[in-house]
Amino acid sequence: MPTTARLLPAALLALFALTACSDAPEPDTAAEPPAQASGEDSSAASGSTAQLDYSLPPEDFAADPEAGRSLFRANCMQCHGEDARGTDQGPPLIHRIYEPSHHPDITFHRAVALGVHQHHWEFGDMPPVAGVTGEETAHIIAWIRQEQRAVGID
Ligand code: HEC
Repeated sequence: MPTTARLLPAALLALFALTACSDAPEPDTAAEPPAQASGEDSSAASGSTAQLDYSLPPEDFAADPEAGRSLFRANCMQCHGEDARGTDQGPPLIHRIYEPSHHPDITFHRAVALGVHQHHWEFGDMPPVAGVTGEETAHIIAWIRQEQRAVGID
């Protein structure tokens, strides 16, 4: 029982993510999610979080924007640009579209773990970024939010 209560916020976040981009044709089915727990249904044990096939950091995780900047440059810069201002391969993330109210943090976690179908731009799909953990994504998000706030996007 206590376990279910603790997991519920994550489930609600996931639900919100599903509805966050209602203008997207199929925002949540970009690429095949990483094969995980194949044939094993953990829903009985973990309640409604069965569709969460990626890991989120603990709620009290201390995300570090500076670590996020380095991780971004190693994993995301190729398409989103050195300062997240975009390239011809991917959109700027320092952009009003990606403000927290339209793209909350969970959408970043989903993008990195599952990929994104093209829906806001004409760059094509974003593939899942292999090898980036939920905690590393949290660092990246901290840096992006900091950059967004610096130009008045919050
Ligand atoms: C191979 C190119 C590529 C790489 C690498 C890449 N992205 Fe993307 N990303 C894209 C494209 C293209 C889109 C735009 C899809 C659309 O909305 O049309 C996108 C969209 C996104 C979105 C918006 C998701 C949504 O729900 O609309 C986020 C957040 C994002 N990327 C974060 C990241 C992060 C963080 C990394 C690094 C860990 C990363 N991306 C690496 C190409 C890339």
